[in-house]
Amino acid sequence: MMKFCLKDKVFEKISSVLDMEGTEGYLIGGFVRDFLLGRDNPQKDIDIVVKGSGIKIAGKVARSLGKGIKVSVYRNFGTAMFRYDDYNIEFVGARKESYNRDSRKPVVEDGTLEDDQKRRDFTINALAIGLNSSNWGRLIDPFGGLEDLKNRIIRTPLDPDRTFDDDPLRMMRAIRFATQLDFTIEKQTFESIIRNRERIKIVSAERITGEINKIMMAEKPSTGFKLLDKSGLLSIIFPELANLKGVEMIEGRGHKDNFYHSLEVLDNISRHSDNLWLRWAALLHDIAKPVTKKYSEKTGWSFHNHEFIGAKMVPAIFRRMKLPLNENMKYVQKLIDLHLRPVDLSKENVTDSAIRRLLYEAGNDIDDLMMLCEADITSKNREKRIRHLANFRYVRQKLAEIEEKDAIRNFQPPISGDEIIATFGIKPGREVGIIKNFIKDAILDGIIPNDFNAAKELMLKKGRELGLQPVNDTREVSDQE
Ligand code: CTP
Repeated sequence: MMKFCLKDKVFEKISSVLDMEGTEGYLIGGFVRDFLLGRDNPQKDIDIVVKGSGIKIAGKVARSLGKGIKVSVYRNFGTAMFRYDDYNIEFVGARKESYNRDSRKPVVEDGTLEDDQKRRDFTINALAIGLNSSNWGRLIDPFGGLEDLKNRIIRTPLDPDRTFDDDPLRMMRAIRFATQLDFTIEKQTFESIIRNRERIKIVSAERITGEINKIMMAEKPSTGFKLLDKSGLLSIIFPELANLKGVEMIEGRGHKDNFYHSLEVLDNISRHSDNLWLRWAALLHDIAKPVTKKYSEKTGWSFHNHEFIGAKMVPAIFRRMKLPLNENMKYVQKLIDLHLRPVDLSKENVTDSAIRRLLYEAGNDIDDLMMLCEADITSKNREKRIRHLANFRYVRQKLAEIEEKDAIRNFQPPISGDEIIATFGIKPGREVGIIKNFIKDAILDGIIPNDFNAAKELMLKKGRELGLQPVNDTREVSDQE
C-alpha cells in the first residue's frame, strides 16, 4: 500500500478537524496528480473531498487555523474555499453526480469517496490521499490512476462516452492535459472524443478558450492543436485554423501546408517566449492565406495581402472566442500586419527611411516582431535557413543603428496638435492633421531631424502653404522666407 508524507502543518490541522467531526476527508484532483508527478503547482490549489457537507468542514477548518480567515461559499456548487499561506484550499462534499461546475443540475452530496472518484474526468485526476488519522497519507486508487501516471496515459475512469456526456469540455481537457503533461490519450478515450465531438457545441466559448489558452501556454502547443485536428474538434471550435490545412497542387506545383507551418512557428516562438499574445500572433500570422490564395502560371502560388487581411480577421475570431478585445488584441493584429516587413528590409539598397518607418509603426513591439519573423523561418533547407537568419541579423543591426541615431521607437511628435492650433489660432480640424503628418513624414524620411526647432520651422512653412498665419508673430514667417 502506498503512503505519502504530507509535510505541511495545514494537513494535520485538517486531519484533526475531520477526526473530531467524525467524518472522512481526502486530498483529490490536480494537487494529488501534480504531487505524484513532482510537478510544480503554481496556483497551489488544493481540493479536498469530504463525506457530508464540504461547506461545513471548510468553516470548521478555517476557524481552527486562526481568526480572520474569510471563507467563500459557493452554495450552488456545494463548495467552500479559503486562502491559507500560499494555498487556495477548496472543500467539496463527496457526490454521486458528475463533477461539473457549470452544470445547472443540483449538487448531490451524498456519495461515497468511490462514487465521487468515478464521476471525475480522468483516472489521473481521480487519485485520492487519505487525511484522517486512520488512513493518513494512504493512496486510494480504484481506477489505476497511478499506473496511468506512470505510463503517461489519459483515460476516463468510466466508459468515456458517459464521462464526456457528463461534461463535454472534458474532451478539450483530455487534449489539454495530453499537451501539458506530454501524455497519450488512451485509444478508447480518444475514439469517444471523435464520436462525441459535436457535443462540444453546448459548452460556453469562455470554457473552451480557457483550455485553448492552456494549450497555447504548454511547452509544445502544436501537440494540442494536432490532437484537436485529429479528433475533429478543431473545425468546430476554430474553423479558420482548420482551413489552413492542406496542400493544393496545380501543374505539379504545390504550396506549403499552412496549418503545420503555423504550428511550427508557434512551437518556435514558444521556445523563446511565454507571452501568450505573441504566441497567438504566431498561430494566426498566416490565417488569411486560404482567402488570399491565387495561382498564376507565371509566378505560381501567391497570398497577396494576407498580412493585412489576416490582421483584419482577428477581431471576429477574438469576439467569438471571448478573448479580450483590448490592447492585447491590437498587439496581435499589429504583429500579423507587420510580419512581412522585416523581410523587405533585408533586401539590398534598403533606405534608412524604410527602417525608420518600421520602427515607428512597431514601436516597442519591434523586438517581438523580429522574434516572430525568425520563428517564421521553417524551411527544411539548411542553406536557406542560414541565409534568412543572416538577413535578419543584418536587419536587427540596421534597426539598432537607426534607433540609436534617431530614437524613433517611442516616437512622440515634437509638435503637438494643441501647439499647431495655438500657433495659427485655428479650430481642431483637417489642417492640424495635415501639418502633423507632414512633420512626421519629414522626420521619418530623414528630411529634418527629430527635434522641436526643425519641426516648428516646418510647421510654419506648411501652415503658410495652407494659407494660415501665426497669430502672434507674423514676422517669424517672413524670417523663414
Ligand atoms: N474535474 C472534472 N471534470 C471537469 C473539471 C474538473 O472531473 N470538467 C475534476 C478533476 O478531478 C480535477 C478537479 O475536478 O482534477 C479539479 O479541477 P480543475 O481545478 O479544473 O483542474 P485540475 O485537475 O486541478 O488541473 P489544473 O489546475 O491544471 O486545471
